[in-house]
Amino acid sequence: MKKTKTALFSVPLSKYMDRQVADRRSPVVNLLLFSLFLFSFSLSAQKTSIKDIDRRVEELLAKMTLEEKIGQLHQIPGDISTGTDVAKDDMLGQIKAGKVGSILSHTNFENKITMQRAAVGSRLGIPLVFGFDVIHGYKTIFPIPLAQAASWDMAAIEQAERIAAEEASADGQNWTFSPMVDVARDPRWGRVMEGAGEDPYLGSRVAEARIRGFQGDDLGKNNTLATCVKHYAGYGFAEGGRDYNTVDMSEQRLREIVLPPFEAAARAGSATFMNAFNTLNGVPASMNKHLVTDILRGEWGFKGLVVSDWNSFGETIVHGAAEDDTDASAKCLTAGSDMDMAGGTFQRGLKKALDSGRVTQAQIDEAVRRVLRLKFSLGLFDDPFRYLDPKRRTATLEKPEYRQVARELAAKSMVLLKNEADLLPLRSGGPFRKVTVVGPYANSKEGKDYMSFWTLGIGDVDHYDSSKVVTPAMALKPSLEAMGFEVTVTEICLDAACNEKDLSVAMKATADADLVIVCVGERGIDCGESRSVSDINLKYNQELITKIASRGNKPTVMAVFNSRPMTFSWAMENIPAILVCWQPGYEAGNALADVITGKVNPSGKLPVTFPVSVGQVPIYYNALNTGRPQQKQGQLWTSGYLDAPATPAYPFGYGLSYTTFAYSDVKLNKTKLKSGEVLEVSVTVTNTGKMAGEEVVQLYLRDLSADIARPLKELKGFEKIKLNTYENKTVTFRLTEKDLSYWNNDLKFKADPGKFKVFVGGNSRDVKEAEFELVK
Ligand code: BGC
Repeated sequence: MKKTKTALFSVPLSKYMDRQVADRRSPVVNLLLFSLFLFSFSLSAQKTSIKDIDRRVEELLAKMTLEEKIGQLHQIPGDISTGTDVAKDDMLGQIKAGKVGSILSHTNFENKITMQRAAVGSRLGIPLVFGFDVIHGYKTIFPIPLAQAASWDMAAIEQAERIAAEEASADGQNWTFSPMVDVARDPRWGRVMEGAGEDPYLGSRVAEARIRGFQGDDLGKNNTLATCVKHYAGYGFAEGGRDYNTVDMSEQRLREIVLPPFEAAARAGSATFMNAFNTLNGVPASMNKHLVTDILRGEWGFKGLVVSDWNSFGETIVHGAAEDDTDASAKCLTAGSDMDMAGGTFQRGLKKALDSGRVTQAQIDEAVRRVLRLKFSLGLFDDPFRYLDPKRRTATLEKPEYRQVARELAAKSMVLLKNEADLLPLRSGGPFRKVTVVGPYANSKEGKDYMSFWTLGIGDVDHYDSSKVVTPAMALKPSLEAMGFEVTVTEICLDAACNEKDLSVAMKATADADLVIVCVGERGIDCGESRSVSDINLKYNQELITKIASRGNKPTVMAVFNSRPMTFSWAMENIPAILVCWQPGYEAGNALADVITGKVNPSGKLPVTFPVSVGQVPIYYNALNTGRPQQKQGQLWTSGYLDAPATPAYPFGYGLSYTTFAYSDVKLNKTKLKSGEVLEVSVTVTNTGKMAGEEVVQLYLRDLSADIARPLKELKGFEKIKLNTYENKTVTFRLTEKDLSYWNNDLKFKADPGKFKVFVGGNSRDVKEAEFELVK
């Protein structure tokens, strides 16, 4: 299979580039794109391949009956409870009859071969495409996506997805329902764990890294997966953080905050997109023509396939926006959506919609073309079994070196929130000898606690193996003992019923310890789809256990295993060291031990604000100032609460290291910037501590005189640098007029002349600043 990715899906070049988008780019960028465009013409192999695919698609389409066409738009779940029952609902019969285009969530390898054989044996032999939610690893389980984003390490994220794609493709999967790029500002929303946090800029960079990792440089290779960017769009803004809930927002906010990662993903060449479950300003996303046709396909020139979310075509009826299957089919297809996941709405309604003139044959053909193009570009027509080679499968799944990558990424993702008196890292020969590791997550037998809802009940029951998780105790005991510590591990059950017993166990276990490592947090299954909560505080007796463990000011390290921002205000005040571990995946314990022993110097930074209390939600760094910003809690006639501060517990971008970094003043190459010029923002960062370390240098911008109120700060760049002790490095960010532009209320993307501030620092709060002016 020749290269197909660039031309088919990575869009952009001038043919597909929307005028408006082209106009808002700087001349330099446009010149670069034009050169790329010319370069693409020189890749004749690629050109031939697209032409070849288009020709083959048309030939095939001409032979297809209406029933077969509708079949290609129909995606059905494998039996996700056992993963073995291919005979269920005569699945094989339907496949043989050409009534199924795709299978999702199926893990049984032999069954996939059986199903593919059935598809190849159908009248036209159109192969199936197998889709799967590869969310944080396929067999080797990496940290959850939110944790990965906390690494701010795009190369590491790309590498993790590369491994996930190697494994999934070797196990017969062709298409991942990932990345989820929904910006989320509400920790109550369970799916916050699946995204990259609250910021559209960071979210865009992470989306690109994930797509590069999964799709590689050529979708036609059999070790890559087609990506599916989801959930388009607005899903992260469900009212009250309640999953599937209503989303209502201005078009301005949509374009500024929600859409940038989607646009970045489309331009990075994602093969497919997925609709969201929610309504956006009243219109269910699956039948939202403005989103799918006008913006995605029109403005961004996306040529790929759009699949519904699970029965989201059918749910347009439940939303009250469609009358029946026929109406829903007509509305979703004409909005620009193509494939029906799991609901069967098209199966029941699309023919009727055609017969009644609600959709045209041409519209159906266009959707089918997109499905066929995906299959051709994956090479499935050339060899339907190219992802189903048992030898490759055995050689690829869970290679030992993948575990090492998972361990490194988990350690990079951890965020050190507090480290009074340099309690960490633990050093041999220090004041402590006896260490107790305690808490419900010290050694949980439910290994899924260190993973996520995605590793529960998806695919074969044995697809994910909890016993492969290295728990904190399993790793901390040997590594600390090797350093001369005496280590005891005390497990505590996580259940309201265990409360009384737990407290006395914790009391005894920690009584004569010199130092306590208390492992608290939430279960992996307490976060994820349909797992919204109204309280983000530590559950059950965990705060009490922490209080007991640290009684008498005993040195205590609190390791939090969490999928969302959590609140622990007592610990913030009283516990000297707090480490956010997230759900780190299979290598949880090893990564934690690496950080606690100083083998790895923590460098993670929060991709999402941690509130003081749930009542502060939504609280995010890129907010507007309001006319009455609050300086101090309780200050009347200002925007805030009487009973909570206006500032969060830990701000976006925050995270400590075992070393310290000093930032020089911010230098600009000019204080007046004209259109077409480049503003250089430089800062020198010095490692002033006693250990080598990594720092994420962050650049923020504030527009002080735009036509509308602009956020207090907006992330516009970051660079992760490594510095030895006393080493320094000058980091230079380059900003152009495009970086100063925003969507105004007339929906124009433009920069207004006037004053701006730039800020540089190691988080969104502690920054150095400088001012400049845009002159036009
Ligand atoms: C989720 C999607 C997922 C799909 C298939 C839906 O319930 O919202 O994110 O890709 O199921 O598993």
